[in-house]
Amino acid sequence: MTNYTLNIKQKSVVAVGEVDSLLEELLPSRSVVIISDTNVDRHYHSLIERYPHILLPIGESGKTLQTVENIYHRFIELGVDRSWFVLGIGGGIVTDVTGFAASTYMRGLPFGFVATTLLGQVDASIGGKNGVNLEGYKNMVGCFSQPDFVVCDVTLLKTLSDREFRTGLAEIIKAAIIADEELFCMLESCDFSRLKREPKLLREIVFRAIKIKAAIVECDERESGERRKLNLGHTLAHAIEKCSSKLNHGEAVAVGLHLITQLAVERSLLAWEDAHRIDALLQRAGFVLESPVPARDMLAAVSKDKKSEGRDIHIVLPESIGCCRVEKMPQAEFIKCFK
Ligand SMILES: NC(=O)c1ccc[n+]([C@@H]2O[C@H](COP(=O)([O-])OP(=O)(O)OC[C@H]3O[C@@H](n4cnc5c(N)ncnc54)[C@H](O)[C@@H]3O)[C@@H](O)[C@H]2O)c1
Ligand SMILES: [Zn+2]
Repeated sequence: MTNYTLNIKQKSVVAVGEVDSLLEELLPSRSVVIISDTNVDRHYHSLIERYPHILLPIGESGKTLQTVENIYHRFIELGVDRSWFVLGIGGGIVTDVTGFAASTYMRGLPFGFVATTLLGQVDASIGGKNGVNLEGYKNMVGCFSQPDFVVCDVTLLKTLSDREFRTGLAEIIKAAIIADEELFCMLESCDFSRLKREPKLLREIVFRAIKIKAAIVECDERESGERRKLNLGHTLAHAIEKCSSKLNHGEAVAVGLHLITQLAVERSLLAWEDAHRIDALLQRAGFVLESPVPARDMLAAVSKDKKSEGRDIHIVLPESIGCCRVEKMPQAEFIKCFK
């Protein structure tokens, strides 16, 4: 099997291929400690048990400074020092927490990831953003720090629930709209009900999506320009997630993509034929495009967002499939667009 690899910032290697052979190649010959979660351990214990390991609780509520402090205590018990390597094996929560704990313990230990969710492989593990939530605000405390490597083995995704798998699909469709019309066409002709069990095709799709994020991170690691494009559909998605727990992140992103596409058509930036293709692809991937919360509540959540209250926000608008632009506008103006 061929591995696909690429480098980010001349430091981080992203490799899509078979986990055992890639770890053999990439893991440095030093002491290793693994951070994972109880679900991943249940499915892939043989991978986790190779080294001393720390299992995190499941879910966003465990993505906290307290969890990071617990990791530091376990590091001390295990005698972890700067000669060790930290390996995070799991979805986005595990990799965000692992990256933050490793980057801060003793002022920074080297670390790497095995990403085990589709969202983790194409999004969360790529790009060097690490962190935890604080007082209900997502990713409020964290750092930029690139892992030495990210391993993505799509065969690990077969144990993922269909709903979790779809969450990753939303980010892949987003990436295609931002920068890769060819990927969008590949997705249009793919049978989503079988994709999870078609490693060859899935590997190619995952690698293409990673390349889009990697290229953006390469030119704007700290999100001062180009990287904002990755937020396509996310302003409204975050507002929906705040108002309702009915949708998971990917499902909210699908609604956000639909709504922002409508806005782009209304502003004559995007052809309605392209908007129709975007909606059709999202629906074929299994997403419902109706927001579960009334527009009034969703927009109230945008205006109450403490992270951007009273400030200009950057809105990403598609101009065609494979191309989008970032517009800065006052929060109130954005809200008016949907009234
Ligand atoms: N750092 C970034 O740039 C970035 C980008 C996007 C998202 N994120 C973060 O990622 C997190 C979401 O990531 P996620 O969707 O991977 O969630 P997650 O880590 O909670 O994983 C989802 C669920 O799947 C389980 N799981 C993981 N791998 C599995 C497997 N192979 N088989 C069966 N079950 C498995 C997990 O235990 C969990 O219950 C959020 O906290 C978000 O803030 C970070
Ligand atoms: Zn997202």
